[in-house]
Amino acid sequence: MRTIRIHPEPQSLAADVSLAAEFLRKGEVIAFPTETVYGLGAKLSDAQALKKIYEIKGRPSDNPLIVHIAELEWIYDLAVDIPKDFFTLQQLFWPGPLTFVLKRNPKVDGTVSAGLPTIAVRMPCHPIALKLLELLQEPIAAPSANLSGRPSPTTAAHVFEDLQGKIPLLIDGGSCEVGIESTVLSLVQEEPLLLRPGSISKEALEKALGKEIAVATRHAVPISPGMKYRHYAPNAKVILFQSEKDFLAHLAGAPKRRMVLARRFAEEHHVLSAKELFAHFRRADAENYDEICILCDAEVQNDLALMNRLQLASK
Ligand code: TXA
Ligand code: MG
Repeated sequence: MRTIRIHPEPQSLAADVSLAAEFLRKGEVIAFPTETVYGLGAKLSDAQALKKIYEIKGRPSDNPLIVHIAELEWIYDLAVDIPKDFFTLQQLFWPGPLTFVLKRNPKVDGTVSAGLPTIAVRMPCHPIALKLLELLQEPIAAPSANLSGRPSPTTAAHVFEDLQGKIPLLIDGGSCEVGIESTVLSLVQEEPLLLRPGSISKEALEKALGKEIAVATRHAVPISPGMKYRHYAPNAKVILFQSEKDFLAHLAGAPKRRMVLARRFAEEHHVLSAKELFAHFRRADAENYDEICILCDAEVQNDLALMNRLQLASK
């Protein structure tokens, strides 16, 4: 299969994106940009198309997908017993990189949720994603557009690398603003539970709700199966350092093909940031580095979302 790559222009967005909407209507799977990472989308109402997503990514069938919507009203077809906290938070953070896990409306086929009684929903704020949803007038289910186990794609080139020839169309929207996946917050328990930290921080959510939010541990696997899979894994060994002294000592040791990532550092390094992290991982793989050495200063250690991705990659 040939993968068509389109570059929509802001002045002709609807016309440029219409081909992508057409593919989705026909039950095809396509890749599109969001503000976090690229998504691999299919229309929610087509269970066969959803199954294709799992096949194309090589994604385990028990790992549920996130549903993307363009209008708040769409939530009522997707979820039931929606708590007040949802409305408080969506008002502040939607459209944007915040995903809610809610009770699934039994009208929605369980394929998207891998059979769970819940459903994950977010309203992205990328203009291309929103235009696509608006044209389709239906939710789009989409995981990140990488092969399972590869870093999430933050440029169209990353998607192409993983999925060329496997999908009919890729919308190129340049590089993703946020660079790491959305914050996932479950609202199906008594109290909110943070399943995946992201750029919308735990503190921001707590401030908005006026209460503390618990962070899920690996024990939450039955709640969020995605937590049990090894994610964001470059081939190179990822080594995290908390002290600059240890970092320097390691770098002075045996010469290796290595990438050095730090926020600020006296020696030669790439700048560590959430936006560029996955791009660095992919580059390290492409260039066959043996290791990626990362200095996690106090600022980095306080960044729950970035530390989460670094720790998953270093396992
Ligand atoms: O930023 C993002 O969220 C991107 C863009 C494309 O929107 N999507 C994304 O999807 O990162 P994915 O599939 O790579 O990650 C979805 C995560 C997984 O960890 C999955 O287990 C969890 O969300 N998830 C999805 N549905 C769930 C549900 N019903 N209950 C609990 N966790 C769920
Ligand atoms: Mg993913």
